[in-house]
Amino acid sequence: MKSQLLLPAAGSGKRLGRNLPKALVEVAGKPLLVWTLGRFAPLDLVDGAVIVVPRPHQGRFAEVLGEAFPGGRFELTPGGPVRRDSVANGLGALDSDTEVVVIHDAARPFVSPLSVRACIEAAAECGAATVALPCVDTILEGDRDGWLAATPDRGKLWACQTPQSFRVGVIRTAHERAALDAGSAAEVTDDATLVRQMGERVKLVMGTRFNFKVTTPQDLELAEACLDTPGMGVV
Ligand code: CTP
Ligand code: MG
Repeated sequence: MKSQLLLPAAGSGKRLGRNLPKALVEVAGKPLLVWTLGRFAPLDLVDGAVIVVPRPHQGRFAEVLGEAFPGGRFELTPGGPVRRDSVANGLGALDSDTEVVVIHDAARPFVSPLSVRACIEAAAECGAATVALPCVDTILEGDRDGWLAATPDRGKLWACQTPQSFRVGVIRTAHERAALDAGSAAEVTDDATLVRQMGERVKLVMGTRFNFKVTTPQDLELAEACLDTPGMGVV
């Protein structure tokens, strides 16, 4: 089955608080996007990747990719106001013969090629799969005033990660339905949940603790430390 990578990289990185889109922020000497894309080289998913970028910075993204992956073929597509819009735009730019799409946050530079492969295989078999990690921390639900409201059963909780992989028809239908539904889909920040909301099953594939999302300045420090340590985060 032909698989194609789709990297949403069109966010502004508000929580990181830099004057630059998060995917272009340098970590250990290279833009975050370049580290992340490089993880897909052992799987032959770099060439032909669809990369969703902030429209005003499209030229800079093209330059950065051209320098890091000379001769690479990339489909750069402008993003939208929220991640779901960006992914929807990316889905529209896939090759017509792609059967499985692998959607991965540009902000997760430590993804393991082993979990990517497992996720693709699960999607080819079941239609939809997401990498996720069983919660090791007890999760507390707080109320708006900062008081403990409830403690859900940790045994059932997984932290969502990416990649999320889908047969193309499944994820396109999920996005079409979400676009028509102003209610429950509005707050959804991942694609597997959209598929689940239309009643389809989604396979959970084991991730790693290294596959954290660079979100805050502390995450950036952590990423810098990992990338400066040879072998760290390579699973
Ligand atoms: N993303 C996107 N388009 C958006 C918003 C997010 O393509 N409109 C992408 C980001 O570039 C990132 C991934 O989705 O690779 C996960 O989003 P997140 O970590 O929230 O990144 P940002 O939205 O950029 O960060 P923030 O929420 O702090 O602004
Ligand atoms: Mg965001």
